[in-house]
Amino acid sequence: MTQDEAKALVGKRAAEFVDEGMAVGLGTGSTSTMFIRALGERVKAGLKIRCVASSDASRDLGLSLGMDVVELAELPELDLYIDGADEVGPGLALIKGGGGALLREKIVASAAKKFIVVVDSSKVVGTLGRFPLPVEVVKMALPLVEKRLEELGLNPTLRRHKDGSVYLTDEKNYILDCACGAIPDPEATAAEIRGVVGVVEHGLFLKMASVALVAGDAGVTELLP
Ligand code: A5P
Repeated sequence: MTQDEAKALVGKRAAEFVDEGMAVGLGTGSTSTMFIRALGERVKAGLKIRCVASSDASRDLGLSLGMDVVELAELPELDLYIDGADEVGPGLALIKGGGGALLREKIVASAAKKFIVVVDSSKVVGTLGRFPLPVEVVKMALPLVEKRLEELGLNPTLRRHKDGSVYLTDEKNYILDCACGAIPDPEATAAEIRGVVGVVEHGLFLKMASVALVAGDAGVTELLP
């Protein structure tokens, strides 16, 4: 099975977890896109749900599929949040934000009673940290935060587009991608980063996911924390 096939399979499976009348958080990224498309099919077939999106891109996709996507202020309590991840480690500790939506993703995830992670099996790791850890930073604070993260040994690089222009999040902040290597104690790393003034959010999602659906050659399996 290719990675794209795995993403499509797990996205479709995740859409089956949505029931009539639910308030659903829509994740961001290529796997979430598969989920949103599959959910859109169910909505087209008559499923009545309301959604909140974790990015402008997912909001636009949902609306284009005829889904009822509203602001979090209108629907602050969600039954379910479904989103991808860049890495899934022990205890369902996650690295997220490769797609740049970590801040809104964490906000929407925290509004949900249940968070289902959807990944292909390549994302499951024994120790987090192979994937660079994204840290969202207020523009003004960039030089200070960059220096502090360097001092912490986290090896930050300002995210740029392919054309060299600086990447901005939906909230108009910068992202520092930290090639910090293995993260043996994610709670400690999260606390260190949190303590830096000017950091808006980081991509470690700890004790948030309820279950991970993992697609591989054996089909979709469930991982619990
Ligand atoms: C978006 O900001 C991310 O957190 C994505 O959920 C994560 O990067 C996984 O994306 P893919 O499903 O595209 O791999």
